[in-house]
Formats: sequence, C-alpha cells, structure tokens
Amino acid sequence: MKKKENIYCFLTILTIILILTSISIIKVYKKNKPIEVFSSTTNLSKRRYYKKEYQERYENYKEKNPNLEDDKIIIYVNIGLDNPFYTNTQKSPRQNTKEVLVNKYYYLDKDYIPKDLTLIDEKYQSGNRKMVKEAALKFNEMARSAKEAGYNIRAISTYRSFDYQNNLYTRYSQIDGSKKADTYSARPGYSEHQTGLAVDVDNFITNYTNFGSTNEFGWMKNNAYKFGFILRYTKENEFITGYLNEPWHYRYVGVGIATKMKQENISSYEEFYFKYLD
Ligand code: DAL
Ligand code: ZN
Repeated sequence: MKKKENIYCFLTILTIILILTSISIIKVYKKNKPIEVFSSTTNLSKRRYYKKEYQERYENYKEKNPNLEDDKIIIYVNIGLDNPFYTNTQKSPRQNTKEVLVNKYYYLDKDYIPKDLTLIDEKYQSGNRKMVKEAALKFNEMARSAKEAGYNIRAISTYRSFDYQNNLYTRYSQIDGSKKADTYSARPGYSEHQTGLAVDVDNFITNYTNFGSTNEFGWMKNNAYKFGFILRYTKENEFITGYLNEPWHYRYVGVGIATKMKQENISSYEEFYFKYLD
C-alpha cells in the first residue's frame, strides 16, 4: 500500500513539473516568435515603401492602432507619427527643390535662404512678397487665371526668414502659450514659409482667416493644382501635420505632384512624400 501511494505521489509531482515546463516553453516561444504584423492580403506594391529597419516601430504602432490598414501603418511610421511632433527631428533633404518637405519632423537651418527669391506681380500681393522664382511665376499665372474667371486672389505672406518666424512664434506663444501656438504656428526652422514655396492668400476684402468661406476658396479648390499648388493644412490631415485647418495656406509642389495628389486623393504632402519621394 505504501509503495502504491509513493508512485501516485511521484506521478503527481511529475505531471506538475511537466505542466510547468510546458508553460514556460510556450512563453519563451511566444516571446521570440516574430509578431505577424502584416496580413496576407498586403500586396507587394503596398510594401514598396516598407523599411526593414522600422519593423519594430511598425509592430508597436500596429499594436496601438489595431484597426489601421497595413499600408497606412507603414506610411505613418515612415512619416514619423509614432513619435510626438518635434521629436526625432531631422534636417530636411531635397533643399532648394520644389519637393522639399518641412514639417514638425523636418527642419531647415537658421541660415537657410532659398535661391532665386522673386517678387510676385504687384497686382497679386501686398507687402513685397517673394517666392522661389518658379513658384512666384506660377502664382502670378494662377492669380491671373482666377481674375479672368472673376475671382481675386492675393498673396499676403510668402517667404519668411528663420528670424521672422522666430518673432512670430515667440509672439504667439506669449499670447496663447506654446501648446496652443503649436497648433497654428510653426517653430522657427520648421515653417514651410522658410522654403519660399508657401503662400498665404486672401481675396483682398475678407480677413484671411475666413478665406475658407469665400468664393475664391471654391475656385482654389478646383484650380490650384493646375498651377502646382496644394492646400497644405486641412481638418482631414490635422493628425499628420499637427496644424489646424488653414484654408489660406498653399504650397507650391509643381503641376506634376499636385495633379497626382488630386488624382490619387492624397490629403497630405507627407503621405505623398513618403509614398513616392522618400
Ligand atoms: N502657419 C504655418 C503652419 C506656419 O507657421 O508655417
Ligand atoms: Zn502659411
């Protein structure tokens, strides 16, 4: 009898040991097994912009945003959205080209002044506004075309130096606090206006902050791309740009890019850039 009891006891202990060992083996396996981030439906063209070195960042972002499609996960992480704005910042590549990307992750140096700054036609601006030559000429063309159709477009702010932006941002921060100022004003070095490719417009009569409710805004929506300009900050892309809707702020990217963005319904330059230019 005693012998039988001992065997039972031994078997119980053995079973417990086996169960515990299996649990820890499964745990170690799970830990080391690469997480399947990308569904089998993800096709190769969508993976064109996949970066092997970002695999872990994609996985973490997917974990936080489980309902986001795989290609969006890739693009958003490539943009840098898995880090807060103004962190992991880098100097903008493609400087002095119309493709340059300046945003809350990509900056220009204090001494960056675009080449070829040219005055916009005085009929279509106030305050001696300059843009990079190609953008200035295209702006003139656009404003002329609008005028012919009965709409009045005027450039009220274009190229801004680092120091000018610094004064603006500092002033807004003093008034509103930097958290709020960050939603509508770029920190120095991070403003697209420093590229000489951005332009704020009005219709000569309505305050620019109400440009979105003017007929001229309607005309711009349908026609700006034909001259290479895109609307840069919208409600839709606020989570990407970090700025509130700015119906008055346009960015020259050239007719090719502006047209492609329109055709493919891409709402932010960031998404276009990381899809085609990175
Ligand atoms: N208002 C835009 C975002 C700028 O400050 O560049
Ligand atoms: Zn602007």
